[in-house]
Amino acid sequence: MAGAIAPTAAASTVTVLASRLCYSSLASSAAAHRVAAAALRCPISSALLLPGRLRRGAAVRMGHSAAAARAALGLTKPNAVEAPQITFSAKEIDFAEWKGDILAVAVSEKDMSKDSNSKFENLTLKRLDEKLGGLLAEASAEEDFTGKSGQSTVLRLPGLGFKRIGLVGLGQHSPSSTTAYQGIGEAVAAVAKTAQASNVAIVFASANGVSQESKLNAASAIASGTVLGVHEDSRFKSESKKIQLKAVDIIGLGSGPELDQKLKYASDVCTGVIFGKELVNAPANVLTPGALAEEASKVASTYSDVFTATILDAEQCKELKMGSYLAVAAASSNPPHFIHLRYTPPNGDVKRKLAIVGKGLTFDSGGYNIKAGPGSMIELMKFDMGGSAATFGAAKAIGQIKPPGVEVHFIVAACENMISGTGMRPGDIVTASNGKTIEVNNTDAEGRLTLADALIYACNQGVEKIVDLATLTGACIVALGPSIAGFFTPNDDLAKEIVAASEISGEKLWRMPLEESYWESMKSGVADMVNTGGRQGGAITAALFLKQFVDEKVQWLHIDMAGPVWNDKKRAATGFGVSTLVEWVLKNSS
Ligand code: BES
Ligand code: MN
Ligand code: ZN
Repeated sequence: MAGAIAPTAAASTVTVLASRLCYSSLASSAAAHRVAAAALRCPISSALLLPGRLRRGAAVRMGHSAAAARAALGLTKPNAVEAPQITFSAKEIDFAEWKGDILAVAVSEKDMSKDSNSKFENLTLKRLDEKLGGLLAEASAEEDFTGKSGQSTVLRLPGLGFKRIGLVGLGQHSPSSTTAYQGIGEAVAAVAKTAQASNVAIVFASANGVSQESKLNAASAIASGTVLGVHEDSRFKSESKKIQLKAVDIIGLGSGPELDQKLKYASDVCTGVIFGKELVNAPANVLTPGALAEEASKVASTYSDVFTATILDAEQCKELKMGSYLAVAAASSNPPHFIHLRYTPPNGDVKRKLAIVGKGLTFDSGGYNIKAGPGSMIELMKFDMGGSAATFGAAKAIGQIKPPGVEVHFIVAACENMISGTGMRPGDIVTASNGKTIEVNNTDAEGRLTLADALIYACNQGVEKIVDLATLTGACIVALGPSIAGFFTPNDDLAKEIVAASEISGEKLWRMPLEESYWESMKSGVADMVNTGGRQGGAITAALFLKQFVDEKVQWLHIDMAGPVWNDKKRAATGFGVSTLVEWVLKNSS
């Protein structure tokens, strides 16, 4: 089909939904979907109820200053960034005939080799060079472009139908993994940004090494790498850059309905990843537990054909005896919101029931065991809801993909770990909704306390499998570094499912042991357990703690994503977890 341009109807559209988040302070979102009582109970100071002028006056003044402080925090609002659209089209055309801003050529080090006459041996490069009268060889040599991985350059070489040629280095070998193809997409995005291009084509100098099946994966990974590479979260900057890129043509990796479906799928996942990133990037004064609940409700109302939302307030959680979760929320004047979205497939036929549970600490100060000193990362603890961002990011993608045969529960016990006279103290004993008692020997091990009640709730939904995600322990970062998540499960089959999903998504996960003998350090003299063991094996004891709250009949897997939630270099969220979760749900659909 060389030479023919695929019909535009075959093109898939990726919409970057940067502007849809507004985080107005919650909570009674009586939207079209079912929201079971989201009434915001105002934490009125009991002093207001006391008689006496002086007290009343003092209380009023206190109330006033608290309101003023909150109003000041509320002055930060995310900008409504216009939602740009990038259309991806897979085409089988002659690249030399392509017209547009940049033709990006993916080149390995081998492709750059020259013959005795200093001419390219690679046929693609040779042809381009001939058409340009030898300028490609000359300019690439001048730029010291050798095809090394991570290297890229834009050459202004007019004379053909495109204004510029971009060279993207692949290293020694042609790419084979999802991550490598996503990297090419990211490089193309960077090249397009520098040149402010609005349309780009991508072609491989040697595409013959790529098998038919991996062509599909390659095209979709390139597309998602490009979208995520182009996306920049500028909602909180007073001036935001406009995304210029509108259209990307992927040449030589095939065309047709199967590929278009793959590209549509990639774009749906990207929408979820970007949503997840934006949730994590939003600061804690903007993304309160109430605002998170509102965002989740919006996902449910956007895809109201497949979602219902249930948001429980503190009073309702108390009725459900969620003492472990509520203890964590107790110090904050931003009330907790227990969030439950239920996905049911369009035709209602359900073969599998799953739950995804995410840690949703919109801020973790540590509580009385405050995060003190350098290295505590207190200034980054807005990211402590990364598990919930992955959960709702996946929900958004699932709402668009609408997989059949599977019911999915998305569950987050959202709250804030703060300090006040109403907060839990170190040494307090709290009682989870299954009746188990916990001696809180460290208020900074709060995530597991919220997850305890969330996991019990998930089991009560009658699901077969649960995956939970949490920025749970610094110990997991010590063990695996910043870019690999640890996972724990007693179930080998579920481990295999998640590994298979992560191989497709390109997200890095490593199985860790659930060493039962370490439970020794979690025993309490007065309660059923303590919430922290010693410093050693901290990620493992945390996982063992969670296991106490999962029914033995239910398959369960815990992901500690404390490292990969955040990219230090980019000073931004990664969106980690979304794409693996979506793959996992699809594996369980029919
Ligand atoms: N949210 C933190 C874990 C964390 C720390 C994530 C650093 C990312 C970077 C969690 O709530 C926490 O504070 N965990 C404690 C547990 C300890 C008290 C047993 C930790 O890791 O220090
Ligand atoms: Mn903590
Ligand atoms: Zn935490």
